Amino acid sequence: MERMTGYNDSTAGNSVFRDLKDELDGLGYGFYYTPEAASTNDWAAAACRNGCGCPALFLTDSQTNGKGRLGRSWSAEKGASLTFSILIRPECISERIPCYTEVFGLSLCTALRSLGVEKAMIKWPNDIVVSGKKISGTLTETASDLSRIIIGTGINLTKKAYPNELAYKASSLEECSYLQPDILCILSAVLKNFEKDREIFARSGSMKDLAHRYDSLLVNIGRKTTITENGNSVSGRATGIDELGRLIFQKENGERILVHSGEASVSGIY
Ligand code: BTN
Repeated sequence: MERMTGYNDSTAGNSVFRDLKDELDGLGYGFYYTPEAASTNDWAAAACRNGCGCPALFLTDSQTNGKGRLGRSWSAEKGASLTFSILIRPECISERIPCYTEVFGLSLCTALRSLGVEKAMIKWPNDIVVSGKKISGTLTETASDLSRIIIGTGINLTKKAYPNELAYKASSLEECSYLQPDILCILSAVLKNFEKDREIFARSGSMKDLAHRYDSLLVNIGRKTTITENGNSVSGRATGIDELGRLIFQKENGERILVHSGEASVSGIY
């Protein structure tokens, strides 16, 4: 486990960290940075066990043993990705905690669009895709009890973020936008949007007031989608999400189902 490094004397001399800390202070976030982490999600979980306050941001330059969804790995090379996790206290009943996956995906997509990544879309539940290729993935986990959650994201800044053989399905901000990969600017926009969206979510404890915006950014809509879970696949079309963040899905035989989890592969999208 990494040593927990707060904003400290070595980072204090760096203007990016100083500005970032000021931004995060303004939003009420604690700030932790380390040049290299095994996994920022695991780091946040360990910090949580050690009594770290909420909300807090855990940022690293490179990740050596990162975790992706569905047991996959997610590493990050120095300078190629923006890699961070946030630790928050959920403001809903435990059954609704999975909705934070969609809340955060919505905030992230909105933030990237506001910075000029105009074609950013959400692939359910919270991948961000541009022109059919993935530029960001997010893994949401609960800390040891259900009183805290960890939302960890990797955003590809440059094409060094992924191996060449994945170029058919991965992209990066440098390739698909004019956005200069400025971590201060991106993090600030993401967290500001997330603070707004999680307040809207907390009012009803559901996606009720966010689903319309989420659906408008959902790349699954109108495209043939296949959901795979535990080796079983079902094909059809998605029409949006419901109040609990489940994908509303019309099977090819016309039957309507609600999908809680699984891998959604979308025709024309990686
Ligand atoms: C996915 O698309 O499979 C989700 C990828 C999530 C990766 C991020 S990088 C920061 C955080 N720490 C981890 O170990 N994983 C998440």
